[in-house]
Amino acid sequence: MIIVKDLKRCYGTGDTAVRALKGVSFEINKGEFVAIMGASGSGKTTLLRILALLDDATDGEYTIRGLKVSSLPEAERSYYRLTQVGYIFQDYALISEMSAAENVYLLSMMEGKSKKESYRTALEALEKVGLKGKHDRVPDELSGGEKQRVAIARAIAKRPDILFADEPCANLDTTNSKQVLDVFKELNERYGQTIVMVTHEPWHTDYVDRVITFKDGSLLSDDKKMKVKE
Ligand SMILES: Nc1ncnc2c1ncn2[C@@H]1O[C@H](COP(=O)(O)OP(=O)(O)OP(=O)(O)O)[C@@H](O)[C@H]1O
Ligand SMILES: [Mg+2]
Repeated sequence: MIIVKDLKRCYGTGDTAVRALKGVSFEINKGEFVAIMGASGSGKTTLLRILALLDDATDGEYTIRGLKVSSLPEAERSYYRLTQVGYIFQDYALISEMSAAENVYLLSMMEGKSKKESYRTALEALEKVGLKGKHDRVPDELSGGEKQRVAIARAIAKRPDILFADEPCANLDTTNSKQVLDVFKELNERYGQTIVMVTHEPWHTDYVDRVITFKDGSLLSDDKKMKVKE
């Protein structure tokens, strides 16, 4: 589903240039639940942003479902972002003037769904992440972990083909982390959703099919687990 070939990303030029990705290649199949691990600064967020078309690679190419997305014109790139991709940002990226429900349903409305349907889906998604009854609060009235869960609800509400999640549990305690990971697992198993999740927590890998580890902008290891059928 996702094919990445010799992907490179360099920030800046000359002496101060940072080579955040030094030429990484891998493939992710449809329906896989993948964890991306590695020390801080190893290039995880850089990779995720490029794959979700939020940033451009310096070199290399990647295709998603046979489509060479790296060279699409901007209008098609934003359509693709809107309709195919869900992204959970490391810093939530919520709109501070809008309530939790509005933050979640804005995207569905942009996709052309009716207000009523978008609102219903938003409430369902908020309930799934344990925020039932808090849909009217604006981000300032929510804790860090609650804001993070609004961002998660926003990304899962539209059931994107591919969900990119950048440390979605970073501000959650174990109970809430488990709740979120269970939701991801359900989306992955029931709807075959492809999920690429950055995490620092080794126990999170119990939920995934595969762990890709980065070191200094390169791939250090790629461990596929045997799927045990129950
Ligand atoms: N906009 C930018 N301009 C310059 N350098 C950047 C920029 N964004 C990231 N970098 C650098 O690129 C490298 C990779 O950063 P990246 O954010 O991808 O790391 P990460 O693996 O996600 O780290 P963390 O676990 O701390 O989130 C780091 O050295 C970082 O300082
Ligand atoms: Mg990061």
